[in-house]
Amino acid sequence: MMAVAMLSSCSKGEKEYKIAVSQCSPGEWRDKVNKEMLAAQYIYEEKAKVEIFNAWDDTELQIRQIDSLTNAGIDLLVVAPIASAPLTEAVARTRAKGIPVIFFDRRAETDDYTAFIGGDNVAAGQTCGEYALDLVKDIKNRRPQILEITALMDASPVIERHKGFEKAMSGHQEVDYVCVHSDWSWEGVYQILEQKNEENSLPDVVFCHTDYMSQGAYRFAEETGTAERLKIVSIDGLAGEGQGLEALEKGLMAGTYIYPTHGEKIVRLALDILTGKPYERDNFLLSMMATPQNARTLAMNSHEMMEQIQNLVVIENKMEDFFGLYNTQRKMLTASIVSIILLAVALLLFWRAVKQVKRAHRKIKQMNAEQTLFYTNASHQLKTPLTLIAGPVKELMDSTDVQSDKQKQLLEIISRNVAQLETVTSSVLNFRREMAQMVSDATADSALQQVSAQEVLQDSRVSMMKQEDSEELSTVLIIDDNDDMRRYLRTLLADRFYVLEAADGQSGLKLARESVPDLVVSDVMMPVMDGLQLCKKLKEDAITSHVPVILLTARSEESQQIEGFEHGADAYLTKPFSADMLIARIYNLLKIRQQLRVLFDGKEEEPVKLSTQDKLFIDTVKEAIQRNMSNQDLRMDDLGEEIGLSRVQMYRKVKALTGLSPVELLREMRLQRGYALLSGTTKTVAEVAYEVGFSKPGYFSSCFKTKYGKLPTEIRAE
Ligand code: FRU
Repeated sequence: MMAVAMLSSCSKGEKEYKIAVSQCSPGEWRDKVNKEMLAAQYIYEEKAKVEIFNAWDDTELQIRQIDSLTNAGIDLLVVAPIASAPLTEAVARTRAKGIPVIFFDRRAETDDYTAFIGGDNVAAGQTCGEYALDLVKDIKNRRPQILEITALMDASPVIERHKGFEKAMSGHQEVDYVCVHSDWSWEGVYQILEQKNEENSLPDVVFCHTDYMSQGAYRFAEETGTAERLKIVSIDGLAGEGQGLEALEKGLMAGTYIYPTHGEKIVRLALDILTGKPYERDNFLLSMMATPQNARTLAMNSHEMMEQIQNLVVIENKMEDFFGLYNTQRKMLTASIVSIILLAVALLLFWRAVKQVKRAHRKIKQMNAEQTLFYTNASHQLKTPLTLIAGPVKELMDSTDVQSDKQKQLLEIISRNVAQLETVTSSVLNFRREMAQMVSDATADSALQQVSAQEVLQDSRVSMMKQEDSEELSTVLIIDDNDDMRRYLRTLLADRFYVLEAADGQSGLKLARESVPDLVVSDVMMPVMDGLQLCKKLKEDAITSHVPVILLTARSEESQQIEGFEHGADAYLTKPFSADMLIARIYNLLKIRQQLRVLFDGKEEEPVKLSTQDKLFIDTVKEAIQRNMSNQDLRMDDLGEEIGLSRVQMYRKVKALTGLSPVELLREMRLQRGYALLSGTTKTVAEVAYEVGFSKPGYFSSCFKTKYGKLPTEIRAE
């Protein structure tokens, strides 16, 4: 920002003064003064812009030029009027606009000007007159003749030069002085001299108003061989080829008055006026007469001066190039800094926009999650009572008790409307799932669930039939905080299983440890200890680790089901569930448990299918039996105590895992060991019987025969 401020302050700069110059004519003298003015733009402290226009000796053109410059908004006008009278009004118009006007070299016929600067033409004329008199002073035998040939008498220098010359001539009656008016051309002079020659009145000295005009005189003198007699004097005294000083050096002329240019002084005067500094209104530039004696020195000085001016112009041009480059670079730098700042601002805005969008996304996500939770919980609230309506209604409809037609119709109405409500709740949940962009997953999942549910249903029907044959009933522990739900589950299960109940996870866990049920059906969302925690604790406990757990809940979100399985749940049923499905699941899990047991009961164990907890338990029990087998008084209760289990716990756990009571397991292991000793050693039957803990060899033999179909003696004989 600092850099930009600095650059902009640099670019402001001070005021630049526009100085317009209207030159009357072309020519060497004008070129010299023009160069000096242009060079002067750079030598002063103030900023000046000098612009030069030429009127080409055309008065009308000069008037139009001045008017247009006046209207173009210049700060000051420098003018060298072609003629004095015609420019008066044009200059008045410029002055009327408050624009300062400097006359230089020539004046217009008016007093309404700001300043004048230029040679003193009266003094120039007078000096030339005195010089002419000096040239003829030695002519004694006749009256010397001096001829003045003027330029056009409408220009102020011409009038003044004539005035000065005349002044010098006055009082010199010994001299014949004649004045002839001409124009600015050399041809005019030539013709006048030609005429004078014809009249036999060729002068001793001819004074021409400008060096340019005097060319007509020395050409004439050369051509007529009169150079010896005709002395030529004029004004301007410029150095350079064909100019006055060269003609002087060549002896073509007798003298030339150096008419001062001093362009730099013109610009200085203009700046003084513009900046309100004090200045002289009429400024006459000093000068002198150049003669054959000093012509060389003056020419050299003038050359040097022009070279200096030329050098200044070169330096100025180089500086202009440099400043041009500097300005371009400065502009580029400014543009770069501005671009960088704009880019930085754009980046900042972009970054903020991204942040806002991210924040908005987070908010929407959070709101979605909250909404999902709300809908899930709401549907949970709805599904439990729906299950409790749908189940009993189905029971009633399926019951063989006599029902009136009206009762049947009413039950059908209830059933239809419950189904409709279930559909609505499911739709709400599905809609939430879609919102969570899990449409495809959910569809695939529910299709899979349907297939596996049907398989389970079929399997369970088979095992139900088997179970009906069996005398023994399995124990199912129901854990749910909703009284209605517990009651409903009990009605569903009571005629198939021994049903135990608990109202929360903690009391459920206690009851499970005490009674070691064959299966646990538990709700997930419960006070004190929820279903997930309960499940985890059951699976970690050596006593209950083998017990299958079914979790019941309306929280059908996939992540929660996974969570349930991670906590060791064996099955997961979402509310509303059908009674058939629940019963099928229970039978299925009991069947799997039984299959494990059967496998253990046979020769090949499948420890892979047993949990680490259960394998450890079985190994501990077996190891304890092995160790104490020969003790005939061994009681399984003692073994239970050794492991830290109550009698019931010991019985239920061993029975669940092996299908045998602890006593049966002990006898089984004794007989297996006996078989091994009989076939692998030479010990007698009695010795073997005692070793494996039978107090009577006869009882050992009868038990052995029941298990293996052969007597121990027969094995020994083989
Ligand atoms: C140049 C010039 C000079 C002369 C002066 C008078 O234009 O003709 O030769 O001295 O003007 O204004």
